[in-house]
Amino acid sequence: MSPTGIFFIALDNPGSRVQVCSAPAKAASELCCHSVRWEQRGPLPPAPPRASWPACIKSRATPDTNLLPGKVVLAHFAQGCGRRGNPRGSPSSHASQASWCLEQQGKSERVTKQPQQFASDNYAGICPEAWAAMEAANNGYAPAYGEDDWTQRASDAFRKLFDSECEVFFAFNGTAANSLALAALCQSFHSVICSSSAHVETDECGAPEFFSNGSKLLVATTSDGKLTPRAIREVATSRSDIHFPKPRVVTITQPTETGQVYSIDEIRAISATCRALGLKLHMDGARFAQACAYLGCDPADITWRAGVDVLCFGGTKNGMAVGEAILFFDRALAQDFDYRCKQAGQLASKMRFLAAPWVGMLESGAWLRNAAHANGCAARLAAAIRDLPEVEPMFPVEANAVFLRAPAALLDGLRARGWSFYTFIGGGARFMFAWDADPARVDALVADIRAAGLAVADTAVAA
Ligand SMILES: Cc1ncc(COP(=O)(O)O)c(C=O)c1O
Repeated sequence: MSPTGIFFIALDNPGSRVQVCSAPAKAASELCCHSVRWEQRGPLPPAPPRASWPACIKSRATPDTNLLPGKVVLAHFAQGCGRRGNPRGSPSSHASQASWCLEQQGKSERVTKQPQQFASDNYAGICPEAWAAMEAANNGYAPAYGEDDWTQRASDAFRKLFDSECEVFFAFNGTAANSLALAALCQSFHSVICSSSAHVETDECGAPEFFSNGSKLLVATTSDGKLTPRAIREVATSRSDIHFPKPRVVTITQPTETGQVYSIDEIRAISATCRALGLKLHMDGARFAQACAYLGCDPADITWRAGVDVLCFGGTKNGMAVGEAILFFDRALAQDFDYRCKQAGQLASKMRFLAAPWVGMLESGAWLRNAAHANGCAARLAAAIRDLPEVEPMFPVEANAVFLRAPAALLDGLRARGWSFYTFIGGGARFMFAWDADPARVDALVADIRAAGLAVADTAVAA
């Protein structure tokens, strides 16, 4: 497929003729400018270094003094239509390819113009910083299987962020990251202690057991998803005979599946219990950034400094397309982990495209900005419905999730007003906010919750 490009363009004429500032007019005319997609969401990232511009632009590029923050927007162009092979199922002539590009643009706009939903933070697209880094990586050639500069840079960015010489690996998704990390800590006869609502227990299709060749999950029943030292001790000491799988690891989810954040002290207390019982501590950090944003702490304070051995740091739910990082703070535990990833189909051949978005996220600070924004939207919803008698938050709202207990008729009313949400945790409505959650849309949800609540109250009075 013809590559797409991100270029920095002047904001003088948005929507009509555009002036490409990072390249002179001739190069601009070779782009399919009619398929431009405007994007101006959140803070703009810095212009990518010239070395990363596509060759057709670079060769004609002139320095541009107009590239000032605030004067530029990101524009996504279909570039070089008809010159580098056809998109699958697309026509071959330049003109018809251009119209194919337009048609695709129209289709994607129809999808993105659907009103925003908060059923899952996986519904969101890719944030500009991750996208720009991916685009920059899409330039020429690079060694495969993680031997490239992007992978090195992303790994170093993690080491800097955590102030640790940790071992860093990348996997495509959270299920693989968790499962392989736990498998690295266990032998097949070991067991992993987790909360009853842990994603590894409820939503990974047995992958942790599968990848560890049978290590058993030992589930501690928790009312709110949080593990405690007491619950860990109870499970770990329940049996010690040869017939029972030997406890070896504790896994906690930070923030929990119910949107609560373990404090630094809580993690320290859990890790002290783990050490006393000879257990390793793994953290499922699918939304780790949201926990850091909530606590306002240094990432090291809730990981290795508090006794966490391995962290799975999620990118997908915070503005990336795919990609989770696995950080081994105890480097010895990472021995042969690269082979484990390869065997599980998690060693990306074009690793730079998994790593580059992390560079964009970590070096620009978007990882924390995005998370803070998502958390802020959850707090906004929670605060705005606090006075409603029919609706009750099921858990403290600390990260980017809000769980609402409400009468079935109210939830039906919300669905009838066009809102999507899941109720798989405790029957309440779950709303998840992503990096791009629109506060105006949050307010629209609040208005509809109020309207649905009033309708329920009116029906009760009439009856
Ligand atoms: C707590 C938690 N851990 C891990 C994951 C990763 O899942 P996936 O394999 O879908 O990326 C998720 C995704 O919803 C999650 O909520």
